[in-house]
Amino acid sequence: MTELQLCSTMVEDEPDAPEPVAESHIGLDEAYSLKTPEDNRRLYKKWATSYEAGFVSENGYIYPLQVAAAFMDRADSAARRVLDIGCGTGLVGVGLAELGGPRPDGLDLSPEMLDEAGRKTDSQGRPIYGDLIVGDLTASLSLPDGAYDGIVSAGTFTHGHVGIGAFDELYRVAADGALFAVGINSDHYEERGFSERFRDDCDSGRISEPEIRRVPIFEAGEHVDDRAIVASFRSTGR
Ligand SMILES: C[S@@+](CC[C@H](N)C(=O)[O-])C[C@H]1O[C@@H](n2cnc3c(N)ncnc32)[C@H](O)[C@@H]1O
Repeated sequence: MTELQLCSTMVEDEPDAPEPVAESHIGLDEAYSLKTPEDNRRLYKKWATSYEAGFVSENGYIYPLQVAAAFMDRADSAARRVLDIGCGTGLVGVGLAELGGPRPDGLDLSPEMLDEAGRKTDSQGRPIYGDLIVGDLTASLSLPDGAYDGIVSAGTFTHGHVGIGAFDELYRVAADGALFAVGINSDHYEERGFSERFRDDCDSGRISEPEIRRVPIFEAGEHVDDRAIVASFRSTGR
């Protein structure tokens, strides 16, 4: 896996995607064509119960496991309070559990996706997630300052979903030294200012120890060659 210095790295583009359709064949085209949080709420309400049986298993969706691995590669035992943002049905939490990681809280816009995450248990039958929080990453979060030692995410920073603006609130809820491992669609990363913002945040000392990985998202299907950026760094609290 390639690891590069975040502050000095540029990533090549990917093509855009089209329009919504119906029920059980919901996939990337519908997800990428969303525009507002309300669009997201509506789509994921419809998608929650078929998301894993359809999209995840048909495409061998391994991105959440890549994020969990990136987090665990750098986490120390102090990283106990972890927040999975845009946790959906809870696949990053499953990845953390498989790697012996902490039990995260999950935050998502969609109560129906959170319901699915709430049903997940580990091999001992314990819940994968702690608190499950309905929240909109494009707005203020009802979470205290410095509440989390770790922030993880897969599939949420992508076309039609959440942009770089969410990081103001994420830095606020992160404790000093908190470890971020956040997956970002590689097109979205360049087009929506992630690269510039992280570079500025490095330069100003707002974040430190930056790394990026380019990771596979799928093991099968027509998007098997797609890659995402996993940006990991520490929040300095400055
Ligand atoms: C593609 S799913 C990824 C879910 C999970 N992390 C995974 O990798 O399977 C994107 C998730 O982002 C959530 N989401 C979209 N917009 C959001 C927002 N503004 N605030 C919080 N969550 C949002 C959706 O509800 C959905 O659960």
